[in-house]
Amino acid sequence: MPAGEASKCLAQAEALYGQLAGLEIDRKTWLVALGGGVVGDLAGFVAATYLRGIPLMQVPTSLVAQVDSSLGGKVGVDLSAGKNLVGAFYPARLVYLDPRVLDTLPAEEWNAGMAEVLKHALLDGPGHWEFLENLAYPLSLEERSELVLRSRQVKLGVVAADPLEQGIRAHLNLGHTLAHAIESAQQYGGWNHGQAVGFGLRAALRLSQWKLGMDPVWEKRLLEQLRRYDLPCQRPELDFQELPQYLRRDKKNQDGQLRFVLLERPGEARVCADVSLAEVERCWEELA
Ligand SMILES: NC(=O)c1ccc[n+]([C@@H]2O[C@H](COP(=O)([O-])OP(=O)(O)OC[C@H]3O[C@@H](n4cnc5c(N)ncnc54)[C@H](O)[C@@H]3O)[C@@H](O)[C@H]2O)c1
Ligand SMILES: [Zn+2]
Repeated sequence: MPAGEASKCLAQAEALYGQLAGLEIDRKTWLVALGGGVVGDLAGFVAATYLRGIPLMQVPTSLVAQVDSSLGGKVGVDLSAGKNLVGAFYPARLVYLDPRVLDTLPAEEWNAGMAEVLKHALLDGPGHWEFLENLAYPLSLEERSELVLRSRQVKLGVVAADPLEQGIRAHLNLGHTLAHAIESAQQYGGWNHGQAVGFGLRAALRLSQWKLGMDPVWEKRLLEQLRRYDLPCQRPELDFQELPQYLRRDKKNQDGQLRFVLLERPGEARVCADVSLAEVERCWEELA
């Protein structure tokens, strides 16, 4: 199928159902998703629904897919009304990953994956962060493997504790409240997801200073890493008034109240329900 987010759609799922129907498969036949997050989410959705479920194996080939999307069982497709609106929790029975396939990944895609790696390190704690700061490129295969495995381990720990996102799994949304609003306001034609998450992490650390007294040194240390991976440190050219409609549709909101994942310090995340729109706007203006 064609590369790109546009393939993560119901029409592509239907095409795959048609191909499966032409093969002699049964409920014990495995579906193998070989590719990045788009392939993994789409093929996972097809595996979850075809014959009411056939075994799924993920073979993630992008950094995003290796550290994030192949884990935790969220599969699905986009609608024109919004990203990931149709889907299921359907964990892979097996994930096979080989960091050597990342040799051919374009630099921009590596950098996008690093936004999620930075997020996992902030959720994990200072030791993980220092490991990332001390990386010297080009990475050896051992270093790359360690980077991928440490990052997966963070997500695995959270997902194992809360597979259906009733509580702490929401912490994995650090930086994503604003990131998703920006991606939507740009109609998926502006920043890629990693760029939006990079900036979203900076905004989350600024809000964390105001709401939870986080030491500002962490924002400085984040900035160094964002620059290193060519991820944006300043807000995009976008009127703040474009954002509230999307912020209000965030899946974490309850009773009409915005909820942000913020940090007291790396390793100590909280879901905060007392961030006002005015504070988000002030943060937006400060990060121009
Ligand atoms: N299910 C989850 O929990 C979860 C988590 C994070 C992201 N996602 C989803 O993942 C998707 C993004 O995934 P992505 O960043 O992997 O994007 P992607 O799948 O579009 O892959 C990015 C690009 O890299 C190419 N590529 C992949 N592996 C390669 C390799 N080894 N060598 C050369 N090129 C390679 C792809 O063809 C594509 O052009 C989004 O749809 C996002 O919503 C899901
Ligand atoms: Zn993400």
